Amino acid sequence: FPTTLDALEERAGASGLWPLMTAYLGIRSRVFDDFLTGAARDGVRQIVILASGLDTRPFRLEWPAGVRCFELDQPLVLDFKLAVLEERGAAASCAHTPVRADLREDWASALEEAGFDATLPTAWLAEGLLPYLPPEADEQLFKEVDRLSASGSRLAVEHVSAVEEMAGDALVRDGGAALGIDLPSLLPDGSKRSPRDQLASLGWRYDECSVLESARRLGRPLESAPRLMEHMFHAFAQRP
Ligand SMILES: C[S@@+](CC[C@H](N)C(=O)[O-])C[C@H]1O[C@@H](n2cnc3c(N)ncnc32)[C@H](O)[C@@H]1O
Repeated sequence: FPTTLDALEERAGASGLWPLMTAYLGIRSRVFDDFLTGAARDGVRQIVILASGLDTRPFRLEWPAGVRCFELDQPLVLDFKLAVLEERGAAASCAHTPVRADLREDWASALEEAGFDATLPTAWLAEGLLPYLPPEADEQLFKEVDRLSASGSRLAVEHVSAVEEMAGDALVRDGGAALGIDLPSLLPDGSKRSPRDQLASLGWRYDECSVLESARRLGRPLESAPRLMEHMFHAFAQRP
């Protein structure tokens, strides 16, 4: 967002989208925080956050000794975040390796060149990412995650099952316009196989939960737009 949070809140608060986003993003962060810290508690020492954006988990969460966290995103995004964190004197609480790469290209080589070890079990996260990837990059993501995952690796993704319906919903369209975002223009054309289908065909165990259910489990039900949120899932998979 090319402005400050206060200005955004003022502009978009009335649309209904802003309160829903702020409530939901808190839930999403917590669900995936728990996924990653749970994996680390179970002994996983290699974490890869795909499209980490302005996520600060390597700095914000407490990690056991020996954890390395790779954060992959576009160079401009990582450079901006790391400059801000450095300016504030933030220190990562695990070994931290940024990987500047485009997920539509050969990102796996960039990850391996940065020191990723495919012989170790890994916890992977793709949060707020899949709707923005073109179909080929989406298939490549699951294939490469599978290829690079030792037995016992885990993956969590946020999955939107009806991206076009969501983007066309009046709440999203009007709220997006108030925020200065043309959401449909960020979404690629083409149909994709669901994470469930892709991971099942790769032999992973798979489980998903609607975000409404995630919110209820955390004691923070999302009541304002249940119809809209019905299309969104938190999915968890494990490589046997
Ligand atoms: C909505 S943000 C989510 C960020 C973070 N995962 C979170 O949930 O806070 C989407 C992120 O995906 C990244 N992204 C989108 N397409 C990408 C691509 N082709 N290669 C690398 N990163 C990409 C963007 O740079 C952005 O940081």
